[in-house]
Amino acid sequence: MSETRESIPMPSPDRSLFVENITKSYGGGPLVLKDLTLEVSPGELLGVIGPNGSGKTTLFGVIAGQLSPSSGKVCVNGRDITRLPASERARNGIGRTFQVPQCFFNMSVFENLLVGARYAGDLSHDAATHSVHDILERTGFRGRGHLRAGDLPLLDRKRLELARALATGPSILLLDEIAGGLTDNEAAEIATLVKEVNSQGVTVIWIEHLVHILTSAVSRIVVLGEGRIIADGEPHETMATPAVRQIYLGMEPDPDA
Ligand SMILES: Nc1ncnc2c1ncn2[C@@H]1O[C@H](COP(=O)(O)OP(=O)(O)OP(=O)(O)O)[C@@H](O)[C@H]1O
Ligand SMILES: [Mg+2]
Repeated sequence: MSETRESIPMPSPDRSLFVENITKSYGGGPLVLKDLTLEVSPGELLGVIGPNGSGKTTLFGVIAGQLSPSSGKVCVNGRDITRLPASERARNGIGRTFQVPQCFFNMSVFENLLVGARYAGDLSHDAATHSVHDILERTGFRGRGHLRAGDLPLLDRKRLELARALATGPSILLLDEIAGGLTDNEAAEIATLVKEVNSQGVTVIWIEHLVHILTSAVSRIVVLGEGRIIADGEPHETMATPAVRQIYLGMEPDPDA
């Protein structure tokens, strides 16, 4: 058992992520990630989009360590972490949310965050409690930490999923459809929160189907199609490329483009 820490880990704004030549198949089936290489700079807020089944969540699993790639490497600051278990990667600053929320429904909001802070954040009880109070404030749960997670409306459940990931003290945060199912106004609130987190030094990679929310929040978008990166760049330019219009949006390329 490793020693607990007495202070809240600050995000390390110098963490770069390099995903190199990753392939992945499930149980010997077809490749769902095909020689995928992606570099994310320290402090970036990167959006990821792509059709259903294009491999977005699988990529997160490979980065966060829930899944082993069939080949390829995942490096943080040049250190190869491909063989580290997910728990170890969480302790080393990789946090994630899940497409299907993973919170403990019968526990309070506060307790949910405490679990994350003590486990992945590796904090003593006092430091974890302090950290959790800080995150409750930042994520809109001031005075509401006692609420049962299972009773929260959808927007708060999404906030909780984000707060749980923050409780682990991430330097690199992976968000998997954190705004899925929300109204435009609610999704915009989540986008504001994500931008705040990013401005505090956390590198963010954000998968979302709500393209207009994503394009207004991020500085770069990567588009996945059938396990490959089919476009990568400034959001509006990227969305306008014929490959994206044709493959992702199912639109015919504009003959005048
Ligand atoms: N546990 C699994 N076992 C077998 N195949 C899987 C598993 N998880 C995902 N797949 C398959 O891998 C491919 C990529 O799935 P993935 O969930 O990564 O896509 P996605 O881009 O996140 O899709 P969505 O937008 O629907 O969330 C799909 O064909 C999917 O059916
Ligand atoms: Mg997915």
